[in-house]
Amino acid sequence: MDYLQNIKDIMKEHPGRLEHILGVMDESIKLAEIYKLDVEKARVMALLHDVAKKIGDCTMKTYMVQGGYDLKLHHKLWHAYVGEFLALTQYGVTDDEILKGIKWHTTGHPDMTELQKVLFVADITEKRTRLFEDARIMREISYKSLNEAVAYKLNYMLSNPITHHPYTVEMWEKYKKYLKGSE
Ligand SMILES: [Fe+2]
Repeated sequence: MDYLQNIKDIMKEHPGRLEHILGVMDESIKLAEIYKLDVEKARVMALLHDVAKKIGDCTMKTYMVQGGYDLKLHHKLWHAYVGEFLALTQYGVTDDEILKGIKWHTTGHPDMTELQKVLFVADITEKRTRLFEDARIMREISYKSLNEAVAYKLNYMLSNPITHHPYTVEMWEKYKKYLKGSE
């Protein structure tokens, strides 16, 4: 399947979201090249990561049930889980690293692979729509150290006084040593 054309088609009424997805694709490819990872897998993961973002509430709930996901999960996380479900059932993706990368891209996860960390970082550092200062700083860090960029993002997320998913907290425990100035 031509994932790029498909995403352009389904996001044609959501130009801002499409710009973000294309930005994540560009930045994921760049990071995969820097860290000598599988560029094609990085590209597919980026293209599909927000595929469920614009699905209506009712359909989203149906997919959550079909996928066997917990409806008590925070609503903001649903698109990541349904994204995994659609990648598997509608896009024919069977690669578990890609599927889990999509599922975990919002919360992070302590067991993320290098490739999955690329998406986790690029979701914030893409250049097309993420124009704020922390994104720029994180982008510069990401070209030198993926782990430092992950630590920067987690610290940034956790500075928001909301309840965080346990995966985010567990990942922070593992990566906080990479935060610059933490030693
Ligand atoms: Fe995204």
